[in-house]
Amino acid sequence: MSNDLSIHTHVFEPGNTGRTLLLLHGTGGDEHDLLPLGRKFAPGAALLSPRGNVLENGMPRFFKRYAEGVFDLEDVAFRAGELAKWLRAAIAHYGIDARKLTAVGYSNGANIAAAMMLREPDVVKDAILLRGMVKVEAPAPGAASTIPAQVLMLSGENDPIIPLANARRLSTLFAQRGDRVQHDVLPTGHQLTPQDLALATSWLQGDQRRTVW
Ligand code: MLT
Repeated sequence: MSNDLSIHTHVFEPGNTGRTLLLLHGTGGDEHDLLPLGRKFAPGAALLSPRGNVLENGMPRFFKRYAEGVFDLEDVAFRAGELAKWLRAAIAHYGIDARKLTAVGYSNGANIAAAMMLREPDVVKDAILLRGMVKVEAPAPGAASTIPAQVLMLSGENDPIIPLANARRLSTLFAQRGDRVQHDVLPTGHQLTPQDLALATSWLQGDQRRTVW
């Protein structure tokens, strides 16, 4: 077993559809948190779910922050690289079809997924980012995708934790490098709603959306 696989405590639940969801929890969650959501989003998909390696007052996260919405950018970069390294090891170890791998991140998990995809464009090409963002001032990433990623972003219009301008900045960053982004703003806050479930499942079912990988 590669040492890189031990970077994250994680759960792997095998599936029977060929698809795998990479589940990335929010602050205070763990590797078990999003398993029920993953089963609803894509019944029968394999589920790969790591726990964030940072502890904030005992709450697991995927990167350090100084305060709510004030990220330690050096740590974001380091942890995004670490997650990518772990993910490559997990893909090899569990025999995951990387062409049928979709990241599903909620809040802090969406933010680390976005950081990883923007820094390392070829590790995950498909993502559902629930209540994700970057800071408005975030510079466009240098690395362009060789193959465009497909991203569904779902934001809450009244989310007190994720300002809409920051969510829009993230969708712009993906679009600027040629990724295909669908960004829907829902009449809700930070919590997920049945509308998130409906949009995510129908987006995932549009498998024909990728014709060339
Ligand atoms: C973050 O820290 O990534 C975001 O502010 C969301 C969260 O509180 O997890």
